Amino acid sequence: MPVYNQPVKLPVQIQSFDEYQEVYAHSVSKPENFWAEQADTFYWRKRWDKTLEWNFTDPDVKWFQGGKLNITENCLDRHLAERGDQAAIVFEPNEPGDPVITLSYRELHAEVCKTANALHELGIGKGDRVCFYMPMVPELAISVLACARIGAIHSVVFAGFSAQALADRVNDADCKMIICSDYNKRGAKNIPVKQVVDEAMAIGCSTIETVLVHKNTGGDITWDPSYDLWYHEQVDHQSSECEAEAMDAEDVLFILYTSGSTGKPKGIVHTCGGYMLYTAFSFLNVFQYQPGDVYWCTADIGWITGHSYILYGPLLCGATSMMFEGVPTYPDAGRFWQICEKHKVNQFYTAPTAIRALMAKGDEHVEKYDLSDLKVIGSVGEPINEEAWEWYKEKVGRNVVPIVDTWWQTETGGMMISGLGNYSPQKATFAGYPLPGIQPCLVGKESIKENKGNPAEGLLCVKFPWPSMLRTTWGDHERCKNTYFSTVPGMYFTGDGARRDENGMYRIVGRVDDVINVSGHRMGTAEVENAIDEHSRVVESAVVGYPHDIKGQGIYAYVIMGPGSHDLDLIKQEIIAVVRKEIGPIAKPDKIQFVDALPKTRSGKIMRRILRKVAANELENLGDTSTLLNPEAVESIIAGRDI
Ligand code: WT7
Repeated sequence: MPVYNQPVKLPVQIQSFDEYQEVYAHSVSKPENFWAEQADTFYWRKRWDKTLEWNFTDPDVKWFQGGKLNITENCLDRHLAERGDQAAIVFEPNEPGDPVITLSYRELHAEVCKTANALHELGIGKGDRVCFYMPMVPELAISVLACARIGAIHSVVFAGFSAQALADRVNDADCKMIICSDYNKRGAKNIPVKQVVDEAMAIGCSTIETVLVHKNTGGDITWDPSYDLWYHEQVDHQSSECEAEAMDAEDVLFILYTSGSTGKPKGIVHTCGGYMLYTAFSFLNVFQYQPGDVYWCTADIGWITGHSYILYGPLLCGATSMMFEGVPTYPDAGRFWQICEKHKVNQFYTAPTAIRALMAKGDEHVEKYDLSDLKVIGSVGEPINEEAWEWYKEKVGRNVVPIVDTWWQTETGGMMISGLGNYSPQKATFAGYPLPGIQPCLVGKESIKENKGNPAEGLLCVKFPWPSMLRTTWGDHERCKNTYFSTVPGMYFTGDGARRDENGMYRIVGRVDDVINVSGHRMGTAEVENAIDEHSRVVESAVVGYPHDIKGQGIYAYVIMGPGSHDLDLIKQEIIAVVRKEIGPIAKPDKIQFVDALPKTRSGKIMRRILRKVAANELENLGDTSTLLNPEAVESIIAGRDI
């Protein structure tokens, strides 16, 4: 019997705080039973033999070993009988007047199959890597799912990254194909993305056999017949049926690059079975999605939020998920709210940086729209400050809609600490309680011991595996071990610091490593320094984050120049240009201060603590500077600070 004639079952949907407490208690006392019960609601080609095997030393985590599945059968085929004609994806274009595109589950299924067949024909098979560099258009969703359909591994690169950054990611994963568009529409601009791909190819992407180009604007592009092909010419004539590849639960589903405190970004690896289970489970519970609701996450599919909560989580649950091509301020700062009204959005999910930016544009932009369909509003990506939380609650939520502040990471695959719709206690700036199955803890910075009891604070760690956790970092398992499993032996270390209040609610304080969060974009300070150092006249640089009203954190760069006289304004422009070229515009410094020396310890380490304080203009308490190799450097840095 075809799979889609089975009634669709979904994981448990918790509907009160008491129920949360019961389910949570069960989930941590018998984690394997709990997750096996939830996993049984999906369609498996073959049920698994062993629910969980793990250690956090190697690390080695395997969920549902022996199980066979294809995530797209669960996202698409399984829904056809019950909701084939319901909208799966609703696409709102950049231009408010342009037509909305709605893909029903049946249409999305057909489109995914056609693209999957085209990919097959172009020599893409199970385990091959396909890189994406595209705008938020339906073809992106379709072709990402097409990869999953045939067992190819997708690696989506946010289309704001530079050619160099794209080439680095393509080469790290030895991708065989890039799928891109000709141009991206973003607000009033058309961005030549194919040109960036051409530049990446010129830098060198030797494993790329094909660049598949989606015609988005039809603007002029250059064409290299040795590898360029039009997407529509490959896809349009294909059959709308494509047998899904039966994947092992632990086969790789995708790679997604993210920044850490050292070196180049690393490819976080997620696998099929556990990721499927946890994204669906968390989506259903945090957003309290009900059949018929319209759900909208404003993230880009280039980030994990888009993977888990535009595509996989919602589609697994048979939801209607919106995709927005544009930006929050085009044509004006009311666009988000106009879209919410137009599509009668029920669940809305965005980032604090967007909330702060829109808040600054004035209340009139939000007050003129009818937002009465909203039932849950979410926040993700960075700590939400109290002012933004209150504004979101009052102006968008009209004081009646619950805010879910969802803490998680690229590495966690899904939301870890968050309220569940209206069923959890609310406290401004607190993400709240862990989801069922998630066992967070706080570890003392110095003692490296768990701080039990409430209240408490420390390094935020997780003690026990959860289904959607990262399995490795692509091509470098040692790096995974060193980054996440070595700081606190036996635990997953998140890189964040957190506090727990007397009731056990968590508040995320922010990163405790050299990672900064600029407008919700995660950046390694070392990565930005390496880019700045590419400037031929720069001798050394040090980058720190500083508090920024809209972006959360801004990028402050201290730069030492080589000998000779310099036109410093010109050099600043050049430094910004180098960073744009090496990483992309999102990494460009907000402030650049030229210095003669950087404060260093006797062992030659830059004292970033001091640089952070100066950048934040917090000069009262610089701490002990007497152990520095060059305490005089601090004085001159303070004198020349950019405020
Ligand atoms: C880092 C992860 C998770 C999807 C988007 C970001 C910060 C994320 C919150 C939140 C406070 C948050 C953390 C985390 N972060 N959500 N609700 N409250 N901080 O994913 O790019 O992997 O970044 O974002 O510092 O470690 P990411």
